Amino acid sequence: MKTTLKPKTEKMEGSGEKTISCFRVFNATNDMVNRCLTYKGPAKLILIVALAFLFASAAAPQHRSPWKVPESAKEKKNPFAADESSITRGKESYKTECMRCHGKNGLGDGTSSEKLSETVADLSSSEVQGQTDGIIFWKISEGRRPMPTAKSTLTDDQRWDIINYIRTFAKK
Ligand code: HEC
Repeated sequence: MKTTLKPKTEKMEGSGEKTISCFRVFNATNDMVNRCLTYKGPAKLILIVALAFLFASAAAPQHRSPWKVPESAKEKKNPFAADESSITRGKESYKTECMRCHGKNGLGDGTSSEKLSETVADLSSSEVQGQTDGIIFWKISEGRRPMPTAKSTLTDDQRWDIINYIRTFAKK
């Protein structure tokens, strides 16, 4: 038995043209006429285009807004000199609290990094290395989703030591 498909346009009947606004204008022969701005495209098309944009932007790599680091935090000094003992302590904390995301050499390629929705920062980059200890200390302390706050897992001293260790990732 043959079935005929219902024409798709049927549903859109009557919604073909919409008047947006009308106004009076003089035409070429100087007669006053009514002109209306109308919209003919099917609303569906707009929806499809809008959805396409939505998906495209969701798939594109997100550029996140800059961190809002308070001025008072920026110039805080690291109480520890970047000597061997501080770096060794920092490395231990880094291994347990940071490495799974930031990776062995801080490149952002830790074992958990692929599961995250956000790109893990490359700690060896000049963007990160160019920041003051104070700024990095604040970021580690506060975290930003999906990066956890380290305030509850590491003491202040441990976080300062980590910064001395992170400095060893800098590209030479
Ligand atoms: C769950 C994964 C995860 C863990 C664990 C983690 N981070 Fe992050 N980290 C990230 C992500 C993702 C970003 C990027 C966040 C952003 O830009 O909003 C980031 C950003 C940073 C930044 C800021 C870089 C910049 O753009 O200025 C620093 C510094 C940092 N992490 C250091 C650490 C340290 C040190 C630890 C361990 C105490 C740690 N992170 C633990 C995922 C993680």
